[in-house]
Amino acid sequence: MMKITLFALAALAVACAQEAAPPVVAAAPAVQIVKQVDDVDVDKYNFEFETSDGTSRQETGEYKNDTEQQGLVVRGSYKYVAPDGQHIAVTYLADKNGYQPTEEAGDKAQAPAAQAPAAEAPAAPAPEA
Ligand SMILES: *[C@@H]1O[C@H](CO)[C@@H](O)[C@H](O)[C@H]1NC(C)=O
Repeated sequence: MMKITLFALAALAVACAQEAAPPVVAAAPAVQIVKQVDDVDVDKYNFEFETSDGTSRQETGEYKNDTEQQGLVVRGSYKYVAPDGQHIAVTYLADKNGYQPTEEAGDKAQAPAAQAPAAEAPAAPAPEA
């Protein structure tokens, strides 16, 4: 009985020690805004930003009031480099038919600044819809 209690206490101590360990934080360079645009009008808007880590976001919205559409039509895109190095790019349209995203996951790459223009690899066949 005593052995079991000691074992349980030891296991608890190990679990607590693991939780209390400080997180390992990699020193990353500070991310800076390299582009920022904001245009707001009565019936439309546009904004854009880009940061030094390869992240960007852009969106335009326009208020429509015609037979096709009554309400906002929003078009935009965002890009970022995922933690595994993959370049993610999403373009979307949001209108009376809802949010319609198109994702393009790019190849793994080095840091965006180190990326050099290279010859395009043969395009993979488009997935069946
Ligand atoms: C949209 O257009 C209709 C028809 O011209 C008009 O009656 C209505 O007031 C408009 N709505 C807005 C919010 O502008």
